[in-house]
Amino acid sequence: MRNFERCEKYYNTYRKFFEENKMLGPNAMFLIEILCEKIDLKPGMRILDMGCGAGLTSIFLAKEFGVTVFANDLWIKPTDNYKRFIEMGVEDKVFPIHAEAHNLPYANGFFDAAISIDSYHYYGTDETYFPCYYGKLVKQGGQFGVIGPGLTREFSHGLPETMKSHWDADMYTFHSAKWWHDMWQKTGLVDVTYFGDVPDGKALWRLTADDELLDADTEDYLTLILMTAVKK
Ligand SMILES: C[S@@+](CC[C@H](N)C(=O)[O-])C[C@H]1O[C@@H](n2cnc3c(N)ncnc32)[C@H](O)[C@@H]1O
Repeated sequence: MRNFERCEKYYNTYRKFFEENKMLGPNAMFLIEILCEKIDLKPGMRILDMGCGAGLTSIFLAKEFGVTVFANDLWIKPTDNYKRFIEMGVEDKVFPIHAEAHNLPYANGFFDAAISIDSYHYYGTDETYFPCYYGKLVKQGGQFGVIGPGLTREFSHGLPETMKSHWDADMYTFHSAKWWHDMWQKTGLVDVTYFGDVPDGKALWRLTADDELLDADTEDYLTLILMTAVKK
């Protein structure tokens, strides 16, 4: 498996902090490092971290890239995230926001980039979501990045029998990178600049979550997928 240099360095420095504030799915720190290799972040940029959970990736972005981050989440209390941001010394750069994906308090074109780690599939499978909501938030020439659970290929004969007892309804939002590419590209609002499976995606996913589900996936449908795009 690949070497996560930036993430390992960061993780080791703050190990206690990360262990106490556990991640909500596949290792968010590894995912943000992989995503950051495909997008171009510069100090001072304004970033939306959509579905940031406990805000670990927002802290990482502020510390490693000197960007300002709007750490947007629904399930995790913004006051809890704010405490973490103070503890990590980034409270002047990372702002905790509590907002649902269809009711966001941001102006159109406000962000230089919008990223989403293990979250976009919860609301983004609706064909209208990108053109009516998410796609509007980033300025012309700005970037989008999505990384999270997905499929190596769409199920052609339904959900495999081996996975049925481990499958929750929200997992039907898992799709292939090509499926996501087609959905965004056809809007004409962006050029999709990268889409594909994360190398060793299933093994990376297994590091922090969902062992039984991944074992039940005997036909290797499950993986992590990555997509980036630039606003036209
Ligand atoms: C599996 S967690 C991942 C959190 C974090 N990015 C990580 O990787 O640790 C998914 C996150 O998406 C957020 N989310 C799900 N549905 C949402 C919605 N409709 N609007 C805003 N956020 C949502 C949840 O609040 C949750 O924290």
